[in-house]
Amino acid sequence: MTSALSLPDREQALAHAASLILDSWRTFDHARPGQPLLDARHRALLTGPLPADGSDARAALTLAAEVLDASISQPRPRYLAYVGSSGLEIGVLGDALAAAHDINVAVAAGGADLFERQAIRWVAEFTGFGTPADGMLAAGGTISNLTALAAARERALPGFRHSGGDGRRMALYCSADAHYSVRRAAEVLAIGGRQVRALPVDEERRLRPDALAAAIAADVRAGIVPVAVVATGGTTLTGAVDALEPIAAVCAEHGVWLHVDGAYGLPAAATASAGALFAGLERADSATVDAHKWLAVPKACSVLLVRDGATLERTFSHHESYIPHGELAELHPVDRTLEYSRPLRALKLWLAFTVHGADAFRVAIERNLAQARTLARLLSEHPRFELLHEPQLSAVCFRHVSCPDAAATAALVRAIERDGRILLAAAELDGRSCLRACFVNHRTTDEDVEAVVEVVDEVAGGLVGGASAGAADARGADAGAAR
Ligand SMILES: Cc1ncc(COP(=O)(O)O)c(C=O)c1O
Repeated sequence: MTSALSLPDREQALAHAASLILDSWRTFDHARPGQPLLDARHRALLTGPLPADGSDARAALTLAAEVLDASISQPRPRYLAYVGSSGLEIGVLGDALAAAHDINVAVAAGGADLFERQAIRWVAEFTGFGTPADGMLAAGGTISNLTALAAARERALPGFRHSGGDGRRMALYCSADAHYSVRRAAEVLAIGGRQVRALPVDEERRLRPDALAAAIAADVRAGIVPVAVVATGGTTLTGAVDALEPIAAVCAEHGVWLHVDGAYGLPAAATASAGALFAGLERADSATVDAHKWLAVPKACSVLLVRDGATLERTFSHHESYIPHGELAELHPVDRTLEYSRPLRALKLWLAFTVHGADAFRVAIERNLAQARTLARLLSEHPRFELLHEPQLSAVCFRHVSCPDAAATAALVRAIERDGRILLAAAELDGRSCLRACFVNHRTTDEDVEAVVEVVDEVAGGLVGGASAGAADARGADAGAAR
């Protein structure tokens, strides 16, 4: 059967798409000398009018692949900006297969929805969240955090979703280094962005449990309802892991929901070298893990783990005339989520664990942890760099001596981008501008780590007219202020 939208040459188009994907994987296998730029032909294509008539699928796919090749792809081994990802090959294939079936994991799908249930159990086991474990998959850590905090609000003030808070004031607690999605959730959930207590951190940049206990006690005295504590399992800036045991003890004392935002860092809980940092995770009410970060699958695939699935159902379930719950009053996946149309995000994660096995992920994550330690050592041994903290996980903040302020750091980051051999992010730590590298890609090699030091020093040297070789020692004048 054909229609106006049937692809006339679908077998050739599929084979061509497969060869383009293979070509892109080959370019991800190794670092490349620079970043190609879009040419005039591509710019014309991307600003052209809506085509009334179609054109050849293979030619269109080729053009699309060219534009993608000239774009900033996170799977490249020297993409070290922000918290990257890997576009894991089996995950790409899983996404293509899932898209072909285009199942809506909103209602029971007769099988596909079971991938989601199993992926949740596997992530709970892998990270040590333990049992009982339930949850849902979402588009990103921002949505997972929002979902968990919505459930926490409903537990703290039952019925809030129906009648609002009757003027009750609420508060959330986290460290000053927590991800801004916590504040966003407070805004969306009518808790109020200013009701987020961004509490002081200790010398290892971990939320101070004494400050937490004091903040909750003060709020309770003032009649403010503590909704949840968000501990971070790997802060975005430095990878600091909040001490979960003492935080869980404070939460237990006050009956407050403990959410662990492990969007970036929680997969490291599965490793021998970083696992101990996450002791106490089994006491959490919920945890976020972005599988599209350190579990390598393509975006977007965030896993929200919850101890008690009924808390999600109490927060989100609906009985609508167009989604009847059936004779047994069974729930649908959508009864635990904010979304209705939901792609099968779990398939790529299920395939990733099935094809590679959990141990291969542990090995890849350990390698990234070691790479961060190597970079920290190389930087601290180098006369023109200053290491701003010892890495707990795989994020490393550092400065080059030629960059005394934010403007100079921004100029350096732009020059590194233009150079195109590596990609780093600009950041700010305790008011000091710095560079930040984060290792979450299984393709990154030790040679790529060495390239960070070489390329930054070379590019910085170029910016100051080649004077970097003679520049002062970075740990001179203002090094003391950084620690
Ligand atoms: C600790 C932490 N939480 C939440 C997020 C938000 O995740 P997403 O970008 O998937 O929404 C991030 C993103 O880097 C993060 O590092």
